[in-house]
Amino acid sequence: MIRHIDRVRPETLAAQALHALDAATGAVVPPIHLATTYARDADYRLVGPGYTRDENPTPGHAERVVAALEGGPEALAFASGMAAATTTFRALCKPGDHVIAPRVAYYALRNWLARWGARWGVAVDTVDTTDLAAVRAAVRPTTRLVWVETPANPTWDVTDIAAVADLAHAAGALLAVDSTCATPVHTRPLALGADLVMHAGTKYLAGHSDVLAGMLVTARDDDAWARLRELRHDEGACLAPFDAYLLLRGLRTLYVRVERASRTAHALADRLAALGVTVRYPGLPAHPQHALAARQMQRGFGGMLSIQVPDPLAVIARLRVWVPATSLGGVESLVEHRYTVEGPDTPTPPDLLRLSVGLEHEDDLFDDLRQALAP
Ligand SMILES: Cc1ncc(COP(=O)(O)O)c(C=O)c1O
Repeated sequence: MIRHIDRVRPETLAAQALHALDAATGAVVPPIHLATTYARDADYRLVGPGYTRDENPTPGHAERVVAALEGGPEALAFASGMAAATTTFRALCKPGDHVIAPRVAYYALRNWLARWGARWGVAVDTVDTTDLAAVRAAVRPTTRLVWVETPANPTWDVTDIAAVADLAHAAGALLAVDSTCATPVHTRPLALGADLVMHAGTKYLAGHSDVLAGMLVTARDDDAWARLRELRHDEGACLAPFDAYLLLRGLRTLYVRVERASRTAHALADRLAALGVTVRYPGLPAHPQHALAARQMQRGFGGMLSIQVPDPLAVIARLRVWVPATSLGGVESLVEHRYTVEGPDTPTPPDLLRLSVGLEHEDDLFDDLRQALAP
């Protein structure tokens, strides 16, 4: 049972998972509904959901929490962030259409988009979405979808969501925002005019590096949303109940985790910059879109930053607290050399180290970086 509570703040919605109390027992933790199928009554009517590929109470609960936090009427949970993203392009674009995607974005999505666009006859333009003139120049009569990621992984460039939404809408296109690294704690893209928000729930929403999940939230229950719902159902890219339970559990601590990681990331950015290290972090006044970030992001600038250093792999080898691993948004701090992972075609500079700040003590993280940077 979910008792609807109005006029409470997002932290309260998240902590109580929308005030979910189990109707049968009063349990304050929602049960995991593992059933894939649900019985009909004596009149052969469904009394609950029909089949889990369509609907299941546990992912459904996670969907309602994320929709509430993003301020949209509905959300759809997916088996991964990539499943949520690729379903968006495939549901909304047909051969002959054109999409605009960011030059800097999660690299696996950029690669997939180039391959899929070529195969399906969808023209894909990758542009610097921080440059509004470049976005305006890229728009065509056939543009159906504009995709932005902000802050963008791994350079943390910030795109003006409201301005790009205006450009997309003037062209008759939709705007989808990958808000994985901003999270609803820092940015609410729907309120700024976006039509869809996407999250790799794998990262901050779940927050413990133990579940793959994706989430889409819509601004409207319209035809586009119906096509997305249909494609997820048809293909079964839905989130499994166990994973949805872990996602729900993570969502309950989202605000404290993200605010803490963000505070520590900002402090580390300041302290590293003071050592003379080249730091990319939207909270630093030297960041090229700092003024925009200050306007568009609330409660801080996120838990992700990058540094540019000579001999980055040697720096990683000397780190003792930071864990060298891919991914981000978990409780443990991770460091990654994206150039190694992405390969020579990437726009990511070879000297860049991506830092995902977790919940460890700021001084331990800083001391470890300092000794690794100046052995
Ligand atoms: C910004 C961003 N979007 C999307 C994804 C894809 O998410 P997943 O790994 O859950 O498919 C990632 C994964 O790293 C990401 O960082």
